[in-house]
Amino acid sequence: MAKILKLKDINKIYGDKIKTQVLFDINMDFEESTFNSIIGESGSGKSTLMNIMGTLDRATSGDVEINGINISNMNKNELAVLRNEFIGFIFQFHYLLPEFTVMENILIPYRIKNKNITKEAISRAEELMEIVGISKVKNNKATDISGGQQQRTAIARALINQPKIVLGDEPTGNLDSSTTEIVYDLLRDINQRYKTTFIIITHDKRVAEKADRIIEIKDGRIEMDISRKI
Ligand SMILES: Nc1ncnc2c1ncn2[C@@H]1O[C@H](COP(=O)(O)OP(=O)(O)OP(=O)(O)O)[C@@H](O)[C@H]1O
Ligand SMILES: [Mg+2]
Repeated sequence: MAKILKLKDINKIYGDKIKTQVLFDINMDFEESTFNSIIGESGSGKSTLMNIMGTLDRATSGDVEINGINISNMNKNELAVLRNEFIGFIFQFHYLLPEFTVMENILIPYRIKNKNITKEAISRAEELMEIVGISKVKNNKATDISGGQQQRTAIARALINQPKIVLGDEPTGNLDSSTTEIVYDLLRDINQRYKTTFIIITHDKRVAEKADRIIEIKDGRIEMDISRKI
């Protein structure tokens, strides 16, 4: 299978005067259309690693390759274009635009990429809303829906540009356990339907165990990396 994301000798040092190294020589590959989870104690470096994978932050040294492209020499604008095209993000706090409807929020990444909203985009948004179960509230403002519906809106938004990779940093961190289960089943469904690669940080053991692969980060190093036979 093709490697969709490669990390080579990634080191990250925060700070100028007082330097703190939080990632140490991380080497990792992710195969296309797999579902991966990242676990580890608070402060172990999970979000730092994910921000580097997602090109939101730069490593102090090392290389990141996305879909066969080494991003090390790309400038900010080039990274923004690549990110919008290849990567969907789902965070614990979903940062929906409160003044916009569910539908409008979902279409934002599409609008950034294409300027004009096409019929195809609208029908894709509708398909995604159907899959994540928020069709009924599509014209509600983002503030006028439940927490679980907001999280589903964020998931649909992450998928609107058909990204090859979806990165999630505790995407269900503020949901109750039954909603968490529903959201994960949803992500798995999307993973299989669209062959999207998922890399999800989670504190939830049950969630991690459902993944094809579990990576544990400890003190900025890979402590464990196990794959289920598929
Ligand atoms: N911008 C920053 N400047 C300096 N240190 C930072 C910065 N961001 C994170 N750190 C430190 O880097 C280490 C790793 O942080 P990171 O956010 O990656 O941890 P995490 O595994 O995501 O933790 P959590 O599970 O609590 O979200 C921590 O010690 C943290 O204090
Ligand atoms: Mg974190």
